[in-house]
Amino acid sequence: MSTNRAPFALAAALLLAGCEGAQTSLAGDGAEGMQVIRLGILFLAVTTLAYLLVLAFLAAAIWRRRPVGEERDQAVGKRNRASDPPRFRTMLIGWVAFVTIGLAVLTIASFFTDRGMAQTAARPAISIEITANQWWWDVEYEGSEPSRTVRTANELHLPVGVPAHITLKSNDVIHSFWVPNLAGKQDLIPGRVTDITLLPKKTGIYRAQCAEFCGVQHAHMALDVTVESRADFTRWWNAAIQPARPPTTPLALAGYNYVTTRECRMCHNITGTPASGRVAPDLTHFASRRSIAAGTMPMNRGNLYGWIADPQSQKPGSKMPYIGLEPAELHAVVAYLEGLK
Ligand code: CUA
Repeated sequence: MSTNRAPFALAAALLLAGCEGAQTSLAGDGAEGMQVIRLGILFLAVTTLAYLLVLAFLAAAIWRRRPVGEERDQAVGKRNRASDPPRFRTMLIGWVAFVTIGLAVLTIASFFTDRGMAQTAARPAISIEITANQWWWDVEYEGSEPSRTVRTANELHLPVGVPAHITLKSNDVIHSFWVPNLAGKQDLIPGRVTDITLLPKKTGIYRAQCAEFCGVQHAHMALDVTVESRADFTRWWNAAIQPARPPTTPLALAGYNYVTTRECRMCHNITGTPASGRVAPDLTHFASRRSIAAGTMPMNRGNLYGWIADPQSQKPGSKMPYIGLEPAELHAVVAYLEGLK
């Protein structure tokens, strides 16, 4: 490939790369996403055709421009313009018909897309409540009975092919819930309850992102979305309602003692232990999540050390304070948290 074509190839590659992946609105992995993409393609086709026709008319007008002054005098007699008015009328009628039919098609298609999305929302099978906080997501699954209610944070598990009704709230400022692969956005507004229904069509791991600027860590307010088979989802739910695993090593036990008696317990809940705070992410099955601090970093030991040792250097402005753990305490706390699968 010659070097002057390289930028175009790169641009094309980047454009196509945007069509798949864990965070893209062009994949259509959910019912709503798919319908909106289909509607978008129809809009693009009709408007592209209209654009090309306008350009064609413009080119024809330039090509057939009427000569002026001396040129016209010379041209008179050369061309018989008697046939022009009827042809002009035909083209005008054709154009008006195209615009009318085009707009009608788009209006009808929009109506049916809207109706399709409303039908998805009309038969929800699971209910989830998501509360946005600066800068993390509190997620609660409504169980058939209180003991089956699941509370987690910064992750969402959804069974494929099952409509999930999600109630959205905010504790502080306006946020926006957005799983680009599955559906459009929905705002979370303090003092108001909004909702959205997701119907995932494909299993996979997706990334959701807060889509409304909500403060300095807005970019670090992501949500890991796992769409899995119904059997896997049921397995996850059954594991998620269990209390936290007890520590199995002396080091983890020391961590347990720290976490459940000192600062951590004031804000975090770990079901089955004295830690029962409600203002920070639930940690009962913390180590089974894919990321730390709402998608700020992947879940692994190194990141866990960094996060607990000094949260403010990892996510400045977040409510997780610097505690100043002694090295022995840090090792113990990490060992305990790692066991919370
Ligand atoms: Cu929450 Cu942006």
